[in-house]
Amino acid sequence: VAQRFQPAERSEVIITRGLPDVVLPVRAGREMAAVISQVPVTAVADAVSDRLGAEVGEVIRLEVPDREAAKTLAVVGDLYNRLAEANLGRHDTVVAVGGGAVTDLGGFVAATWVRGVESVLVPTSVLGAVDAAIGGKTGINHAGKNLVGAFWHPSRVVVDLDVLEAAPLPLRLEGSAEIVKAGYIGDPEIVRLYRRHGGDTPLAEVVPRAVAVKVDVVRADFREGGGRAILNFGHTIGHGIETLSGMPHGFAVSIGMAAAGAVSAHRYGFDGGSLTELLFSLGLPVAAGGLSRQAVLDLIARDKKRTSAGVRMVLLRGVGDVVVDLVSPAELDLALAAVGIS
Ligand SMILES: NC(=O)c1ccc[n+]([C@@H]2O[C@H](COP(=O)([O-])OP(=O)(O)OC[C@H]3O[C@@H](n4cnc5c(N)ncnc54)[C@H](O)[C@@H]3O)[C@@H](O)[C@H]2O)c1
Repeated sequence: VAQRFQPAERSEVIITRGLPDVVLPVRAGREMAAVISQVPVTAVADAVSDRLGAEVGEVIRLEVPDREAAKTLAVVGDLYNRLAEANLGRHDTVVAVGGGAVTDLGGFVAATWVRGVESVLVPTSVLGAVDAAIGGKTGINHAGKNLVGAFWHPSRVVVDLDVLEAAPLPLRLEGSAEIVKAGYIGDPEIVRLYRRHGGDTPLAEVVPRAVAVKVDVVRADFREGGGRAILNFGHTIGHGIETLSGMPHGFAVSIGMAAAGAVSAHRYGFDGGSLTELLFSLGLPVAAGGLSRQAVLDLIARDKKRTSAGVRMVLLRGVGDVVVDLVSPAELDLALAAVGIS
């Protein structure tokens, strides 16, 4: 049975097993759909394209380089050329099939081509399904990561649980860090499920819950006036660690959450120990020994979450009880020491 969420007016998330009977939202005047994908998800893009063939007059396929190599101005320019050749117009649809890199890119192209066309996103990674494809933030890397982009809600996000379950283990593991994050900031049941089932926790149970957490936050604060900041739990220090070590995003966020948990424990008596234990039990990293403390601090200071007043961190008083506040240099040291950076 499909589960549905609505992050915004005329934007819906459908979570199903297999593709929904009709992939594209009902819309007048559509003549064409352009499917953007990367090589590792060709089979999924084929299945989506087959289905679209029955729904729209013409389907064109656009393959882009894998991972972050897709999120460049050069690739965007190439896609614009292809859309121009194909004559993709106002009433047509851009469909992005793949991980967060493809849905960020496809969403951005849709937001900007002929001043904006409809997008449909089919996230194939767990992180994409619970995070990147949800919430209407699109973008590419230019002069820095995600510095060029647009807020543009997809008309529809299609999450196929079969695809997520079939994804390679490292991708599922990385995604589980973002699901745990969603649990700690907004849904204690996610935390209970992971405690009970560990690495065997069914994605079918936790993915819709994590999507619901993000949808709620985004509905309350689409353009990041403030509330959306709670989604950055684990990210202040996580980003620094990710940039410095080159480790996958989800793993760095896991370490970042352990660090933020330590500050939360110190300040509010939060049970940071059981957060770290849970992450560890899932096979996620909770320490980043060997990194230079000063280098991490420099990166945190440069991070966009820094205001002139200092470094802001997302902290927890309890599961689902979030505080965003400035932290002192001593608290930052404590956070880093908790994950082996001293
Ligand atoms: N817009 C947002 O709000 C938001 C939020 C979080 C992250 N992001 C972005 O998301 C991106 C990271 O997304 P990601 O973690 O999905 O990484 P990714 O898109 O780079 O995908 C990682 C690898 O997995 C492959 N892959 C994806 N699904 C697969 C599947 N089902 N089977 C086999 N291989 C598969 C991809 O082709 C790629 O090789 C970053 O660019 C980040 O900036 C955006």
